[in-house]
Amino acid sequence: MMIEARGLVRTFKTRRGPVEAVQGVDLAVADGEIVGFLGPNGAGKTTTMRMLATLIQPTSGTATVAGCDLAKDPVGVRRRIGYVPQSGSTLPEAIAGDEVVDHARLYGVPKAEAAARGQRLFEELDLPGLWRRQCKTLSGGQRRRLDIVMGLIHEPKLIFLDEPTTGLDPQARANLWEHIRGLRARGATIFITTHYLDEADALCDRILVIDQGKIVGSGTPEELKQQVSGDGVRLDLADAANAPAVSKIVAELDGAVAIEADGATVNFRIPRGGSVLPGLLRSIDAQGIELEGVEVHRPTLDDVFLTMTGRSLRDEEATA
Ligand SMILES: Nc1ncnc2c1ncn2[C@@H]1O[C@H](COP(=O)(O)OP(=O)(O)O)[C@@H](O)[C@H]1O
Ligand SMILES: [Mg+2]
Repeated sequence: MMIEARGLVRTFKTRRGPVEAVQGVDLAVADGEIVGFLGPNGAGKTTTMRMLATLIQPTSGTATVAGCDLAKDPVGVRRRIGYVPQSGSTLPEAIAGDEVVDHARLYGVPKAEAAARGQRLFEELDLPGLWRRQCKTLSGGQRRRLDIVMGLIHEPKLIFLDEPTTGLDPQARANLWEHIRGLRARGATIFITTHYLDEADALCDRILVIDQGKIVGSGTPEELKQQVSGDGVRLDLADAANAPAVSKIVAELDGAVAIEADGATVNFRIPRGGSVLPGLLRSIDAQGIELEGVEVHRPTLDDVFLTMTGRSLRDEEATA
C-alpha cells in the first residue's frame, strides 16, 4: 500500500470553538493507483491531504505514507512525495525556472539535471518559452501548471495534488489529465482532490467521497454509481391509460425504487437496469401493452453524492 491511514482526526481550535475538520478517516491507496478525493468545499479534503503530506499533525490517528510512518519518520515521507498545494507555492518576484531548479536541489537533484527535467516538464505541461519569466507575469493557468512542475521535479513516487485543475480552461484540464495518466504509466501513485465530478469520473481508478469530515463512500466510479442509486429507466407508453398497470409490473421487480408515473411515462431506478430490461419488456408485452420507447441511463456521480448526503454536489459547485 502506498498510503494506509487509520482513524485520522484533525480538530482546529478557533475563537468560535473547535472545528472538527476531519473526523476519523480510514483510507488505503495501492501502488500505481489514481485515487480521487471528492467532496464539496469544506469537506476536509485539504486538511486530510496536509496531514498525509506531513504539513500538519493529526489530532489523532496513524498513517503509513510511501512506506514511512507519518509520526515517526515525517522526513522520510517528505522525501518520497510531491505535494501541489491548493493555493500555489511560487513567489511572485521569482523567475519560474529558478524556482523549479531550487526546489529540485532541495531534494538533492543536481543543478544541470534539474534544469533539463524542468525544461522537459515545461514542454509537456504546455509552458514553452516561460522558463525565464517572473512568476507574477504568468496567467493563473500557467502559474497552476508551474505549481505542478514543482511537485513533479524530483520524480516522487507518490504525488498529492490539491484541486490541480481549479481555474484551468477545459483544454488545459484535459492536457493535465493526460499528463497525470502519463505519470501513472511511469509508476507513480496519485492522490488528487477535486470537487469536479467529471474529473473524478474521467481520471480516477477509485474515488473516496468525503463529506463533513467523514468518508461516506468509496469504489471505482462505476461501482459507486451502481451501488448507490441504480440505473434510471424510462418507459414511454403508447397509451397513458396503461401507466398504472406498468407501474404495478415494475413494482414487482427486485430492487425497483422511485417509481413515478407521469402521463404516458413511467420512470424508476433499479440496480443493473440493462439486465432487468428484457424480462420487464416481456412482462409488459404479455399484458398486451404497447411501448413507444425505452431508455436506460447510468446514474451520475452527482446522483451518488445526492443519495449519500441528501445534497447535490452540483449546487456546491455553483456556489463555490
Ligand atoms: N487552519 C484552520 N483553522 C480553522 N479551521 C480550519 C482550518 N483549516 C481548515 N479549517 C476548516 O476545516 C474544514 C475543512 O476544511 P478543508 O480541509 O480546507 O476542506 P476542503 O479542502 O474539502 O474544502 C472547514 O470547515 C474549514 O473551514
Ligand atoms: Mg481544499
